[in-house]
Amino acid sequence: MFLYGKLPYFAFRMEKSLKIAIIGAGRVAWHLGRRLKGKGIPVSQVISRTEERAKKLAGLLGSPWSTSLSQILPDTDWVLLAVKDDAIAEVAKELGHFVPGAFVTHTSGGTAGSVLSPFFERFGVFYPLQSFSFEHTPVWSKIPFCVDASIPEDLLFLKKTAKRIGNLVYHVNDEQRARLHIAAVFANNFANHCFAVAEKILDDQNLPFEMLHPLMEETVAKALQESPARMQTGPAARGDIETMRKQDRKKSVV
Ligand SMILES: NC(=O)c1ccc[n+]([C@@H]2O[C@H](COP(=O)([O-])OP(=O)(O)OC[C@H]3O[C@@H](n4cnc5c(N)ncnc54)[C@H](OP(=O)(O)O)[C@@H]3O)[C@@H](O)[C@H]2O)c1
Repeated sequence: MFLYGKLPYFAFRMEKSLKIAIIGAGRVAWHLGRRLKGKGIPVSQVISRTEERAKKLAGLLGSPWSTSLSQILPDTDWVLLAVKDDAIAEVAKELGHFVPGAFVTHTSGGTAGSVLSPFFERFGVFYPLQSFSFEHTPVWSKIPFCVDASIPEDLLFLKKTAKRIGNLVYHVNDEQRARLHIAAVFANNFANHCFAVAEKILDDQNLPFEMLHPLMEETVAKALQESPARMQTGPAARGDIETMRKQDRKKSVV
């Protein structure tokens, strides 16, 4: 039973009075939970399968915790699913038995929001486009929040919330987000892998990786100022065929 008449109230009411549950206690749950709290939007409950991690995050947020989805507060308004991509559908399915009327969002760039549609009528995506780790504090004002929701009132709520905890907010649909995620993999994971390969090549020659730092900085700085396609340099861009042949013969090093 979905009370659509109540939705505008949900969208506009003060976040302080919302009951928010975070599912998962990993990197994203950790940072989003703390940021929400820091911005005066308290998290009502943390549920995560590993007791130690659930307890630790809940302690930081000053909220109750559980390891069982069945313990979710029945009047929860918004569920933030911050579990690993492969577990989203399975967790959502179980959650659907306990809070079928809640608004449920996942935080994944590589997963369609529609995976939640068999279990919830009000579903969406709250994807912060950044690489999160426990060691680094995110610069929230620079993180693009990519949001989407199955109904306009919930989309408005996500935009408003993202604006409050971040600054940059984009409405991105499932198809766009799938492409965006691939682009992010090239810009982050592949680029970082290339840095790791470069580090190994220098390491094998007893040369410090720091030698490449200025070059790496220049590469990123230029890519941020101009189109990277126009900034490409090196033997391929110059057409130095013989140099590339020599490099090809040495490719076994990677
Ligand atoms: N990290 C990033 O840079 C980043 C950025 C944007 C979006 N995201 C998205 O955010 C989501 C969470 O990522 P994360 O980086 O926070 O992952 P993470 O640090 O590895 O944490 C994953 C969480 O999922 C839980 N989990 C794993 N398998 C589960 C299962 N079968 N059932 C229930 N819970 C399970 C883990 O519980 P245990 O602690 O018990 O293992 C943990 O709490 C993912 O959808 C990811 O794509 C991540």
